[in-house]
Amino acid sequence: MWTYHTLCTSKARLDGKTAVITGANTGIGKETAKDFYKRGARVILACRNMEKTQIAIEDIKCNSFLSAEDKQLKYKLGELVFYPLDLCSLKSVKECASMILTREQAIHILVNNAGVMMCPYEITEDGFEIQLQSNYLGHFLLTLLLLPKMQLSAPGCRIVNVSSVGYIFGKIHFDDINLKNSYNYFRPWKAYMQSKLANIMFTKELARRLKEAKISGINVYSLHPGVIKTELGRNFNRTIIPGATFFFKYIMRPFIKNPKEGAQTTIYCAVDEKAADETGLYYSECRVTTPYRFARDDQTIKNLWDYTCQLLHLKSEENFSTFLENVSHQINGLSNGSSLNNIE
Ligand SMILES: NC(=O)c1ccc[n+]([C@@H]2O[C@H](COP(=O)([O-])OP(=O)(O)OC[C@H]3O[C@@H](n4cnc5c(N)ncnc54)[C@H](OP(=O)(O)O)[C@@H]3O)[C@@H](O)[C@H]2O)c1
Repeated sequence: MWTYHTLCTSKARLDGKTAVITGANTGIGKETAKDFYKRGARVILACRNMEKTQIAIEDIKCNSFLSAEDKQLKYKLGELVFYPLDLCSLKSVKECASMILTREQAIHILVNNAGVMMCPYEITEDGFEIQLQSNYLGHFLLTLLLLPKMQLSAPGCRIVNVSSVGYIFGKIHFDDINLKNSYNYFRPWKAYMQSKLANIMFTKELARRLKEAKISGINVYSLHPGVIKTELGRNFNRTIIPGATFFFKYIMRPFIKNPKEGAQTTIYCAVDEKAADETGLYYSECRVTTPYRFARDDQTIKNLWDYTCQLLHLKSEENFSTFLENVSHQINGLSNGSSLNNIE
């Protein structure tokens, strides 16, 4: 019954390309993984739950078929690989990045998709509000750690940050980033909207810094995927009102997108030829959309970048290449031992 959803019509192939997708074991991340797999990519599903991811991998494999045309052209399905990643732990982010950098020859696409919405208030082991870290800080660090490998894999590389139109109610709470002083009932909303606004600002600033450093061949995108029936509403019962999860999942069902429809703008940003020369922009329904002025404010965006670096103990250098080198030192000294065996 949902009447307004745009499809990514690009037939671009991803043979020989490697794509990393966070939170790819369910929802729109899983649909994105399936799409890339059918286009021939080596798809890295960076997820926190190995068992759930292995079930997702089997499901994608069992339900992915090449079209007759693709078969005639001798196209092949890609590969699906699990890497452990828990964005709530910066140690896990560094370990995941380290494993990817060690084991993968290239990274052409990074989709920062994983997210949580309206969780009960929780502080992570790193001392951050859980939505801020899962949706924004973890992805910020992961992206910077993977960037040098993407530089080596360029041109044609893309970083896609899955945001939400919810950003319009968002504000960066520089004076209380973990919302410790916010009224309990509104805290989950505020935290989600803040994190999604931060995704858009990060996109614009990263694109600007790449351009300024004359690092070409890596484009950055942010997007709203639509309103979709996924597991994202799993916390609504606890933080909105009992029954809200059921309402969102079943009553709203005819009016919202299914995960395949919801993945289309992500796929568009990651593969479509029409977006190949664009960077730093925000998308909805497979086209560029201009975010509200406050989300484009250069000073707030710069302040957010600097503040994020401060939170993550990264020295914010003027020279972006030097900055990336310094960030890479974050993973030096990590032991790559035990968890490497969990892959594949
Ligand atoms: N659904 C919508 O209507 C909607 C609207 C606007 C924006 N979005 C955005 O779309 C993105 C995907 O959401 P979805 O709707 O597909 O939700 P979903 O079905 O709940 O999927 C979210 C994914 O993120 C993973 N994840 C959550 N926390 C993580 C962590 N700490 N470390 C690693 N992975 C983690 C989840 O893993 P587990 O399975 O292990 O929990 C899951 O794979 C999110 O960024 C969301 O904000 C969705």
